[in-house]
Amino acid sequence: MREEGIVTRTTVECDARGLFVVVPGQGPDARSSKHYFNYLWLRDNCPTSWSLQTKDRVFDIFSQPLELKPKSATVKDANLIVEWAFDGHTSKYDLDWLIRWSMQPGRDDPADIPQHRWYGDHAFARFHDPELKRSEVQQERLMTTLLREGVAIVESVPDSDQALTQLAEVIGSVRASFSGAYFDVKAKPDPRGVAYTAHALEPHTDSPCEEMPPGVQFLHCRINTTKGGESTLADGAAVAEELRKSHPRDFDLLTSVSIPFRFHHTGLDMRARQRVIEIDRRGTVTGVTISQHIADIFDLDQTLLDEFYPAFCRFGAMLRNARFSATFLLRAGDCMIFDNHRIVHGRLAYDRQSGERYLRGCYTDRGELRSKYRTIRSIVQSPSQSNLQVAS
Ligand SMILES: [Fe+2]
Repeated sequence: MREEGIVTRTTVECDARGLFVVVPGQGPDARSSKHYFNYLWLRDNCPTSWSLQTKDRVFDIFSQPLELKPKSATVKDANLIVEWAFDGHTSKYDLDWLIRWSMQPGRDDPADIPQHRWYGDHAFARFHDPELKRSEVQQERLMTTLLREGVAIVESVPDSDQALTQLAEVIGSVRASFSGAYFDVKAKPDPRGVAYTAHALEPHTDSPCEEMPPGVQFLHCRINTTKGGESTLADGAAVAEELRKSHPRDFDLLTSVSIPFRFHHTGLDMRARQRVIEIDRRGTVTGVTISQHIADIFDLDQTLLDEFYPAFCRFGAMLRNARFSATFLLRAGDCMIFDNHRIVHGRLAYDRQSGERYLRGCYTDRGELRSKYRTIRSIVQSPSQSNLQVAS
């Protein structure tokens, strides 16, 4: 297509519902390639369909006839030119772009970073709060780590509510859960859940009782002087992949059967169904959703439970196995940030009389993390666009 001769010999063949762009081959025995494009798709994606001001798609495809056809379609100057019979509009498409799309539809996504799955001996990436807040390079590294490993620890976060909000806003907007925008994890006289006691907290993801559980979780350690209370983290995606290898039938059940979760307390009766292991359209494990303390009574057929319960228990036991689970002590000033759909978190029991333990938490969104990553990556690669210091 880049060669003048190929462009001039490229032709268009109109069919009933779409057209073929026919690109001649190169060399003596090269074969031509045919690329098909539906007429409604072409009309909807005319470059003029987007407002230069708002960036929105402003073209109304619903107003077009379903049997939309071109009056003419030709190739000129490395562009496909289509004049539409219905309204006389002329569309001009870059041929390179069209052919690339035909061979691989979809936008490149810089946020589509392959997971680095990790195990119990993992050394968590650590960042320094003051440096992070003034350096977009550090922010880009933090987001890369979160997309790749699902977890990072930020040190030296000031002992204030505002510091947590400012840190969360590095990667997104604080999103409230059913229990509010922020939560304070400390032993309470009237606990609404085991998190607010000194008991151990099994590996879990937060709020599966919500239709859309929170995406990214922040846990800012403000005080930790008790005996015990070590934190645990495990990469649910790594464990799920291990289960797929060792027990494929278990894996199939946990990716296909949804189970009920419920949080029930004064004034609240939150319920939702979730699959324990999430996979994307390519079959890649993208995350897990599990919580024993919020699991409702499984309402599956009892004969299905003959298979499901062993699969569920095997996976739950693997999540807490030291091969997969890292145990460490959070220090005051540390803030764990992790993907709540991939990383399971927990806590060992602690002695309430031995000191004080206080973690403040909040959530942001996974989609907004990816959005921030895409934009900051382009800023870091073009420092002239930056409002902040780009430091290494
Ligand atoms: Fe939690």
